[in-house]
Amino acid sequence: AFPEALAACGDLDALLRVKGAYIGREASHVARLMDLLKAAPKERKRDLGAAINALKNRWEEALKARQTELEAVKKAAAGGAWDPTLPPPLPARGALHPLNRLMGRLVEVFRPLGFHVEEGSEVETERYNFDGLNIPADHPARGSADTFYLATHPGHLLRTHTSPVQVHTLEKLSTHIQETGGIRFLAPGRVYRKDEIDPTHSPMFHQVEGMLVGHGIGMHHLKGTLEYALRALFGPATEIRLRPSYFPFVEPGCEVDVSCPLCGSKGCRVCKGSGWVEILGAGLIHPNVLEFAGIDSREWSGWAFGMGVERMAMMLSQTPDLRLFFENDQRFIEAMGGLD
Ligand code: PHE
Repeated sequence: AFPEALAACGDLDALLRVKGAYIGREASHVARLMDLLKAAPKERKRDLGAAINALKNRWEEALKARQTELEAVKKAAAGGAWDPTLPPPLPARGALHPLNRLMGRLVEVFRPLGFHVEEGSEVETERYNFDGLNIPADHPARGSADTFYLATHPGHLLRTHTSPVQVHTLEKLSTHIQETGGIRFLAPGRVYRKDEIDPTHSPMFHQVEGMLVGHGIGMHHLKGTLEYALRALFGPATEIRLRPSYFPFVEPGCEVDVSCPLCGSKGCRVCKGSGWVEILGAGLIHPNVLEFAGIDSREWSGWAFGMGVERMAMMLSQTPDLRLFFENDQRFIEAMGGLD
C-alpha cells in the first residue's frame, strides 16, 4: 500500500518510481481509477471524481514531504554528515615551499660527495659581490640599472648572485686548507636584480652556488660532478652539454644545458623544441678569486657553478609562469608535485 511504499523509499530515484506508480499519467493507480470513473454511472461520477481527487491530493502531499526529507539526506551525505565517532578535522599543516624543497633535494644530492651548506647574507658589499670575484670596476653589472643599492648604506647592495658566498667561504676556510685538503660547499639562497616582472623574470629569485677547491681540479671534474648531480635530479637518462661562456670569476667559463626532461615534441613548452634547457653557469675558479681570499693559486684549483632554481623548478613541474612561485596561492603550492 501507499504508506509502506513511501516509507520504503531510500532515495529520490525510488521516490520517483513510487510517484509514477501511484499518481503518474499512465498505468498508475490514479490513472486506473480515472478509467473506472469514465465507465461509472452518470449519477455517481461526481462523488467518485471528488474522492479520487482527494486521494490524489493526499498522495501528492505525502510524496512532496518525503521528497524534502530525502533531499536533506542527500545534501548531508554530499557535505559529509557529521559522524561523532570520527576524530575532529585537524588544522591545515604547514609545509615547505616547493622552491625550498627543490633546494633541499640538491643539497641532499651533494651531501654524500662531502659538500656542506654555507649560509650567505642577502645584503652584501661591493667587495664580496664584485671585487672578490674579479669583476672590474667598470663592469655594467655594477651599475644601478641592474643592481639594487641600499640608499641608506653606501657600498651595500642586495646580492645579485650567490657567488659572494664563494669569497666569504674561501676567506673563512683558507687558513685551514692545508689540514682539510680542500673546500667544498653549496650555498642556496635568494638573489636580486632589477628585472621587470614577467613569466620568466623576477627581481628576486633563487640560486644554488656550488664550489670545490682541491689539488689538480679541472673541467673534467666539473663535468663529471654536474652529470652525477643533474642525473640524480632529472633522471638517469639526462644528458648535459657545456657551452663556452664568460664570467669574470671563472676561466674557462661555460653555461650548462640539460637535455629537456619533458621533451617529446617540437612544440615543447619547456625547451621550445630545442631539446636543451640552460640551467647554470660554471667554470674553473679564476686564480684572482683564490688569491683575493688568500689561497695560493699555484697550489690550489677548483670549480664553481651557480644554478637557477626557478628555472629548474619550472622545468620539473612544467610551470609556465615563474610568478606562480611567489604568489603563494595555496592551491598552486599544494598541487606542486614533481619536486620531491
Ligand atoms: N654567478 C653567475 C650568475 O649569476 C653564475 C656562476 C656561478 C657562473 C659560478 C660561474 C661560476 O649568473
